Amino acid sequence: MESSNGSKRTTSSYGRGGAHSLFRRSGRGLGDLTDRAALVTGASGGLGAAIARRLHREGAHVVLTGRREGELSALDAELGGKTRVVTADLARLEDVQRLAEQADGVDILVASAGLPANGDLADLSVEGIARAVDINVRSTLVLIRMLVPRMLQLGSGHVVIVGSLAGIASTPRSSIYNASKFALRGFGHALHEELRGSGVGVSLISPTFVSETGMWADTGLRAHHAEVTPHQVVDACVEAIHTNRAEILVAPRTQRLGVRMAGLFPELMQPVLRSSVVPPEAVAAQQRKR
Ligand SMILES: NC(=O)c1ccc[n+]([C@@H]2O[C@H](COP(=O)([O-])OP(=O)(O)OC[C@H]3O[C@@H](n4cnc5c(N)ncnc54)[C@H](OP(=O)(O)O)[C@@H]3O)[C@@H](O)[C@H]2O)c1
Repeated sequence: MESSNGSKRTTSSYGRGGAHSLFRRSGRGLGDLTDRAALVTGASGGLGAAIARRLHREGAHVVLTGRREGELSALDAELGGKTRVVTADLARLEDVQRLAEQADGVDILVASAGLPANGDLADLSVEGIARAVDINVRSTLVLIRMLVPRMLQLGSGHVVIVGSLAGIASTPRSSIYNASKFALRGFGHALHEELRGSGVGVSLISPTFVSETGMWADTGLRAHHAEVTPHQVVDACVEAIHTNRAEILVAPRTQRLGVRMAGLFPELMQPVLRSSVVPPEAVAAQQRKR
């Protein structure tokens, strides 16, 4: 579908209208992605790889980054051209800076890398907390700080931050993950407004539990409420780039409403959020991702 500014629109499958459209933001997004350059962090992971595949299919050149070279090379070979692999450990500031230098000039940044960092606070090591904050928050902020100036010079670009519903509503056993996603959400909304009119867009993609692939699916468990598919997350990501929506919640309508209520009235909504609490089995299964 063509929008009034000529940009391509995707048809998203996570719901439209009603409360959803109340949160639609104005502003021009990027149009055709053919030969645009994109950097996708977390491209060796479930959602990052799915987003990289889709951007590539839309015609973009994609820089794939993560630590696991084998996973990145396999994706690179699968996509068969218009890709580049840059390995980087985002817990290391010098790697983040090197990655930004090597990817400088990209039109699109999708910041998808992240750790679940779940568990009771007392069970998390001080080093583990610092690492989660460095990867989930610091690396994202620094990459954006280093890549946006070139986009501003060109008057065109887009930053997608992969957040979570955990950036709006808090649950026990997720305090560090909540802290990191709340931080990204505050930052993303601030920067969206700061760059309004500059030609550079900023969007948050905030999914609920995702099925099939990624850090939740890897636990082998099923959420007590509806999950969304990676396809829905990818659709939201592309829609954000095309329309410059400030935030897209990727979740069924009832969850979107519940989480927004929880954002407004956290104490009142805790009983409702119980179905979203990460179970101890998931914390155990996610240990290797710390
Ligand atoms: N899956 C869900 O249900 C869900 C729901 C809401 C939000 N999210 C968010 O979606 C994003 C992607 O998650 P996912 O589900 O795709 O998880 P995933 O499959 O575990 O992938 C995580 C990615 O982060 C990268 N990463 C972790 N530590 C890193 C480090 N030190 N340096 C560089 N890269 C690092 C991993 O790459 P390497 O291991 O190769 O370094 C991997 O590519 C995350 O921000 C997550 O919070 C996920």
